[in-house]
Formats: sequence, C-alpha cells, structure tokens
Amino acid sequence: MKSVGGRLLAGLELDRAAPQPLHQQLYAQLRTQILMGSLPTGTRLPSTRTLVTELGVSRITVVSAFEQLTAEGFLRSRAGDGTYVDTLWSDAAPQRPTSRPPLSERGAATSSRGTDLFSEAPHAWAAETESFVASQVASSAFPAATWKRLLGRHAGRTDPLAIGYSDPHGHRPLREAIADYVNDVRGLGCTAGQIVVTSGAQQAFNVLAVLLLDAGDPVVVEDPGHISGRLAFQSQGCPVRGVPVDNEGAVLPEEHDGAPPARLACLTPARQHPLGIAMSPARRAEWIAWAQRNGSWIVEDDCDSELRYRGKLLPTLFGLDLSRQVITVGSFSKVLAPSIRLGYCVLPEDLVEPFASASSVIGRPPAMVLQMALADFLSEGHLHSHLRRTRRLYAARQDALLDAIDQQLGHRIQAGPVDAGLHVMGWLREPVDDIQVARGLAAGGVYTYPLGEYRLTRQLPPALLIGFAGTAAEHMPQAVGRMAAAWDRWERTPSGS
Ligand SMILES: Cc1ncc(COP(=O)(O)O)c(C=O)c1O
Repeated sequence: MKSVGGRLLAGLELDRAAPQPLHQQLYAQLRTQILMGSLPTGTRLPSTRTLVTELGVSRITVVSAFEQLTAEGFLRSRAGDGTYVDTLWSDAAPQRPTSRPPLSERGAATSSRGTDLFSEAPHAWAAETESFVASQVASSAFPAATWKRLLGRHAGRTDPLAIGYSDPHGHRPLREAIADYVNDVRGLGCTAGQIVVTSGAQQAFNVLAVLLLDAGDPVVVEDPGHISGRLAFQSQGCPVRGVPVDNEGAVLPEEHDGAPPARLACLTPARQHPLGIAMSPARRAEWIAWAQRNGSWIVEDDCDSELRYRGKLLPTLFGLDLSRQVITVGSFSKVLAPSIRLGYCVLPEDLVEPFASASSVIGRPPAMVLQMALADFLSEGHLHSHLRRTRRLYAARQDALLDAIDQQLGHRIQAGPVDAGLHVMGWLREPVDDIQVARGLAAGGVYTYPLGEYRLTRQLPPALLIGFAGTAAEHMPQAVGRMAAAWDRWERTPSGS
C-alpha cells in the first residue's frame, strides 16, 4: 500500500495556542481522517521521524498519538515496517456520514419550545435590562449567609449517607420537615411517608406522567395554564384538552360530548397560573366529584400558594379528597430560588413506592448536600422567617409596580393588585398581539411574559404577566419608565403595533 505522506501532512493542522495538547490534536485529526475514510485500511503512515520534522513537534507527541490510536484499533504497527491504518474502524465506519434517524414525534414535540420557553427572555439579565419575568424571585433577599452555612455543615461530610446514592424517596429528615411545613402552612394532613423529594415540580410532573398515563390518554389542563407542566404530559404522547378559567377557577370539562373522560387533570386551585384566581370551595368539590365519577387523577400544582399578601388560603384538594385520587406537587422555586431545583410530591400511600421507583429511573433524587441543607433550613425555622420577610418585600414591590404602571403606562395597561404570587396581569387596553408586544419590549431590554404564550386554543384578551418580585421598590419607577420608553420605541418601528 502506498504511503500518503504529502496528502496526510497537508491535512494536519496543529494549533499551538489551543488549550488541547498537541498529541491530542494529532490523535483527534488522524482519527477523524480514518473514520471519514480519507485514510483507508492498509494506508501506510509517514514515519515518526518524518512527522516530527514536518510538523515541528517532539517525538513524544507523535508517539503518544500513535500509541493511543493503536490501542483503540485505528492503527497497527508492523515490526520494522512502519505503521498502517487497521481494518477495525476504517472498514466498519461509513465512508461518509449517513442520514441519522429523526427525533421521535414525542421528542420533537417536547423540544419544540426550545430551552427558553419564552425565547425572548434570557435566563440571566444584564445590568442595563429590566426583568419583569413572572417567576423571578428577589435575588437580593436570598438568605445567602444561612444557606452557605448550612451547605458548609454538610458539604465536608464523608459518611455513607452523605456520599452514597441517596434514598429514592428523598432524605428522611427533609421529608419530615416538608410534611411539618405543608401540614402547618397548607393543612394537607399528610405524613412524612407520603412525601417524595424531587428536582423541582417539573420532575414531579414528568414522573407522574410516566406513572399514571399511557400514550393517547386524554389529559385536561387549564387554558391558559402552566406551560412546562402541560409539556410534561404531552411529552408522554397524551393529547391535552384545555378547559377555560372563570372567576371560580378552572371550569369542568364537558362530559356529554362523546369524548372519553380525561385520565388526569392538572390544576392550580390555590392560585390559577397565570390568571391568579383562587378556586372557589364549590368548584373544588365539583372537581373532586369529577375525578371520582370518571376514575381520573387530579394533579394539584400548589407551587404558588405560600406567597400570600392578604386573604386566607383555602384548603388543598388533597386535604378534601377521601378517594385518594389527588396528588399535590410543591416547589421551593418561588419561596426560595428556582436554581436549587428542589420540590416534592405529596402522594396517597399506595403511590409512594411506585412514584419513588419511577422517580429514580427518570432522574434520581436531588443532590444530597442540598437536601440536607434544606432539611436544616426548614427544621430550624429559616423558611418561615424568609417567607415573612419576602411577603413584606414583595407586597411593597407590588404596590410600587402598580403605582408606576398607573402613572406611566395607565394609557396602555390596566393592572390590579393580586392576593398572592409574584406577578400581576397587565391587561392591554388596545387589541394588539401580546406576543408581539413582549418581543418589542424584549428588543428594548425589558422582559415580560405574554399571556398568549400560555394559551392552548382559547382566544384571550391581550395581556402581559408583569413580575414584581425581582425589582426593588425604589427602582420601580425607573424600571417601568424603561418599559414605557421601549414600548414607545417599538410602536414607532415599522413592524410595531
Ligand atoms: C404554576 C407553576 N408550577 C410549578 C412551578 C415550579 O416549577 P419548578 O419547581 O420545576 O421550578 C412554577 C414556577 O415558576 C409555576 O409557576
């Protein structure tokens, strides 16, 4: 077989400034040429000495690359006769990349929204922008010193509990602390044995979708409603049907249209997301009767309930349901921070083991050090103090936002106070497309979520979800001023309004 000296050498480009060592670069480039078929089986490689001279590298660089390629079956050396491309990869590998199978239909549907659900709102905000995104918490109020101390307490541990795979149900002291917390704050009436710790509510939705639904099972969601929860059910191949929301909460689905009853309904009774309506006691009773009549599940998304500024919280569906068909999902994303990825599921006893097993298949429990720190955070009363502080802070921020909207944007937006949660609904006075408005504002560095993104099929009046938790009350007039200016600018552009 002929040597490929000149052609091979022309194709090799080593970058001395790159962080990757030269022997690894040489290894990677030779490997690619073999896999791509440009160095076919039996090709004789230039000698080590030639490569050293031509490439201007040390002998050890070439030898290391050759040794690795030989160990992996790409090259073979014949004693006294040089180094050849071996058959293993060059024959087995396609000469050219062939077409790959496409994403599955479920995969394509699940990933169609991209990693930013709201593509215009980034995950982190530059100093010169204003974020009014709905689920943003006050980063300045995060109890960083306490959190750091509690993490430090557990981060250095080397005992098996801290180092090994953790209990798939979650760290027992955290389950106990969560049970105390939800019984105290939400009157759930559950035991620690009914709690499973998850990586936020999203993992709980995904596990429940796998556990309770077969592909094709109809699911009911609120329209408008929480987007990521809906996607978890859709990603299992389940068609979702939206039910409207009136001033008593989610309306029950029609039952006499010949369609099979939904196998599961996902609801936000404490505070409808995103509209902010608390479900009435009568509507709660109707939903529980619906689940019993149809043999359906209810997933109660209770992620927004604790940040309440006025009025009393109504009991959870979980606490009202005697038929064990309701599962409650909670999260520390809004009460603490979304980045810690901790949430929980409160389950009827007989679902605990199946849920924990499925949960460890889908994602394993969250990092133990975080679970241990959170257990202490709860049991030492820090969450209660943090909630007291943030409730006051957020109430003041909400007032400041509503004042600033009134003064600077009253001609465009009508917004009223909310009893709970982290955002107000800003109803647009003109019949414009709210998604276009949000994009126009984002182009001016001001981030909001448009209500249109939350709709499934229903026509809704245009509105923006305007979060108040992430903006200091003193800064609110200036931040809303930027929103007003960005709006004016967008409206003046040819594509605006
Ligand atoms: C309605 C609703 N459910 C759940 C969550 C929490 O999701 P996660 O715990 O996955 O961050 C949020 C958070 O923003 C929410 O608004």
